[in-house]
Amino acid sequence: MSIHSAGKAEKITLSTIAKMKGREPIVMITAYDALFAALFDGEVEMILVGDSLNMSFFGKSDTLSATMDQMIYHTQAVCNGASKACVVFDMPFGSYTTPEIALNNAVRVYRETCAQAIKIEGGKEKAQIVRTLAQNGIAVVAHIGLMPQHVRSEGGYRVRGKSEEDIEALIDDALALEAAGAAIVLVEGVKPEAARRITEAVKVPTIGIGAGNATDGQVLVWSDMFGFFEAFTPKFVKRYGHGAQMVREGLSRYIDEVKSRAFPDEAHSY
Ligand code: KIV
Repeated sequence: MSIHSAGKAEKITLSTIAKMKGREPIVMITAYDALFAALFDGEVEMILVGDSLNMSFFGKSDTLSATMDQMIYHTQAVCNGASKACVVFDMPFGSYTTPEIALNNAVRVYRETCAQAIKIEGGKEKAQIVRTLAQNGIAVVAHIGLMPQHVRSEGGYRVRGKSEEDIEALIDDALALEAAGAAIVLVEGVKPEAARRITEAVKVPTIGIGAGNATDGQVLVWSDMFGFFEAFTPKFVKRYGHGAQMVREGLSRYIDEVKSRAFPDEAHSY
């Protein structure tokens, strides 16, 4: 049962998402505010309030300086716009360094927002954190593969799963996180073959980004896919619109009409 088979009025829960594995691809998109969340709500199964907002919305060069307060504020805004999609809160860098810190922050997310799950980056070394969260009633999306929060320590964004050894390490991560209680495994920036094998190895749904088309679902950052974020376009991003161009064209017409006093005309005056 997806949002399309269930009817657009229904709230999508994590158990709806779990049942979609192997049946129908899950569609996830990021949103950072009520306006766009309302546009996506009722259409996609899941909305991720990603810490990518630190780049596309806040103008930083990576995600690392996003804070809990910022992520909570944006998630509250998304919750104001979305009543049907399953909302996921992206835990910012430094907010889940120990099981106790992770639990305190995740409890705050559940108390202050409508998010149904939180997302953390990391492999099997994060299994204890996932276990603590799951045992305390917090649903976890475990993000493996290319992990943007590691960009400084690793000196860049590295595509994973290029060797058999690395594919096996990724499968190991996915299995350990699933055993610890992860509800979903999000796989970023890995070779399609690696994502396919991870998806076959785990029983929970996988969501891919830059991971080929064999995962149980896909996620894209809305400002990338609609052509608003122009600083760079990763290879895996497909443009489904030319947002920046549309705004520039409209803006240019507005400027011309104000300068020429064509706007406001009679139709737009009291
Ligand atoms: O922050 C984000 O938007 C993400 C996606 C790229 C998965 O983590």
